Amino acid sequence: MVRLDKFLCDAGAGTRSEVKKYIKKGRVWVNGVPCKKPECKIEEQRDEVLLDQKRLCAQKNVYYLFHKPSGVLSASRDASQKTVLDFLKDAPGKHLFPVGRLDKDTEGLLLLTNDGALAHRLLSPARHVEKTYLVHTDVPVTQQMRLRLEEGVDIGDKKRTLPARTKPLSGKDNGLYLTLTEGRFHQVKRMLFAVGARVTYLKRVSMGPLILEDSLKKGSWRELTEQEKKELGI
Ligand code: URA
Repeated sequence: MVRLDKFLCDAGAGTRSEVKKYIKKGRVWVNGVPCKKPECKIEEQRDEVLLDQKRLCAQKNVYYLFHKPSGVLSASRDASQKTVLDFLKDAPGKHLFPVGRLDKDTEGLLLLTNDGALAHRLLSPARHVEKTYLVHTDVPVTQQMRLRLEEGVDIGDKKRTLPARTKPLSGKDNGLYLTLTEGRFHQVKRMLFAVGARVTYLKRVSMGPLILEDSLKKGSWRELTEQEKKELGI
């Protein structure tokens, strides 16, 4: 047995708060009658659940950690360009999508799933999920530049960026590790530009508890481990 709102999320109908609204508005019917209680218990194999008169099927959620290569779009599909989904054609599960986006020329960790609720949690600005990037730059990143990045910089938005963490690269001055708790458009590139450097290479190496291991080659994917799922609260 599963709660009606969870059943709807798992079936890909929307996030937990979205499906609650659908339920309250009477758009969800269970066994031929409207059900306005998100907490109502559903027997997945037996009960018939309709949203706007369309039947929903219980869906198994799947979670894949993908090493995105450069030159690939973080979109589900594109008419002319290669997308991350093209690399996961053999991965079991329906309705996969990437959790957030990396620029076309950015490499690294991308989570793909069909779990809308998890995606919502990881991307919610209020949750401040940490993302760490390996950044190479055209000029050396000085300690003063790192301090500015750590304090937060004006990148032309209404608000300065939130405080970030930095770590120098060992044996290389032109770059750093940068850990952010937000996900603004081109944020790393714009932050580095604001302190006087251009990004020449960008790779996401971690997101929350997920870490991209060296052994996962570019263009490859693997399922999340039970431990990773536990740490993500799934
Ligand atoms: N910041 C960027 O500038 N690009 C990315 O792809 C991710 C973060």
